[in-house]
Amino acid sequence: MLEHLKDQAPDKILALVAAYKADPRDDKIDLGVGVYKDAKGKTPVFRAVKKAEHRLVDEQTSKVYTTLAGDPAFSDAMVDLVLGDTVARDRIAAIATPGGTGACRQGFELVRLANPDATIWHSDPTWPNHISILNFMKMKKSPFRYFDEETALVDFDGMMADLAAVASGDVVLLHGCCHNPTGANLTADQVAQVIALLKDKGAVPMIDIAYQGFGDGLEDDAATTRAIAGAFDECLIAASCSKNFGVYRERTGVLMAIAPDAELVKKAQASMNFLNRQNYSFPPDHGARVVTMILTDPELRADWEAELEEIRLGMLELRKQLAGELARLTNSDRYAFIATHRGMFSRLGVGPEMVETLRKDHGIYMVGDSRINIAGLNADTVPILAAAIVAAEKG
Ligand code: LMR
Repeated sequence: MLEHLKDQAPDKILALVAAYKADPRDDKIDLGVGVYKDAKGKTPVFRAVKKAEHRLVDEQTSKVYTTLAGDPAFSDAMVDLVLGDTVARDRIAAIATPGGTGACRQGFELVRLANPDATIWHSDPTWPNHISILNFMKMKKSPFRYFDEETALVDFDGMMADLAAVASGDVVLLHGCCHNPTGANLTADQVAQVIALLKDKGAVPMIDIAYQGFGDGLEDDAATTRAIAGAFDECLIAASCSKNFGVYRERTGVLMAIAPDAELVKKAQASMNFLNRQNYSFPPDHGARVVTMILTDPELRADWEAELEEIRLGMLELRKQLAGELARLTNSDRYAFIATHRGMFSRLGVGPEMVETLRKDHGIYMVGDSRINIAGLNADTVPILAAAIVAAEKG
């Protein structure tokens, strides 16, 4: 049987992790996978997470199954974090999922159950695993222009022109904040225009929000998601706790489905529970419980927010340093976008050959589309990267 299996191309982001590990150079720099790293290159456990885990070990008396939707307190806490009071809680069905990827997958599964003919529109580019999962599920998909390679900002005219072809019932997948892989985000005014267009078309928005707190702060980063969620009768939201709680391997995420009335909430909830049951039965609980504890305990929450804010400001500072260093070395502002991008990533907009040169000649690892993880840098490596980019530009 197994001989019939086809070769699978390795995931490009994860293959980069392996290639970096295998590189023997001491001065190599990892700007690949979207994992936060401190100035020493470590991905620490958040202080609040450690405290919550200790408390969990002390206080938990059973590990019996939760519900198919996961712990309801987790869904409540995440709805509150992502949506605030934008949408009444009784209009939202929610399930815990294994990370943000699980939430995206279950969201696509829900679309397929409800409307197998729907086309999922996604930004070009988007997180490559969106495309990979949609391909695997054999769902219809269509790209819309998003990134202007010249300016390294959003190609808003292109985006609106492409979205004009959306059909009623289609699903439009948007990034809640900190666009992955580009780092370029819509302004509030542009979001309002997208909302008007999608409403006009009768489309259903689906939002992937995986970096809340990494861009402009917890509240500001939720603004796009809230504006969209508040404007539609129906909306899907896939939220991840991997990055903003640093619980990557605990697989902690949530899928929310906003519905117009109680009957449809019930229907959506039943289908989402069913999807969990079919795919893995009960969702993972450890990370969800830790996150719930942090979000509902004022002391833990304050500590978590403070640490997240330190991380966010650190990344902003690195952005400014890198843009400044490149401005100095190139005597131009062509890399100024790095300081205006938000989140973990920026797409440099350089070609694959230059990405390869940076890896081969300088031991600098970034995704093939020239996406860099800002958190992979520190004050010492910023000038090294800037000098390497300039050297590679000169060939
Ligand atoms: C990334 O884009 O690097 C992260 O979301 C990690 C992943 O799973 O790809």
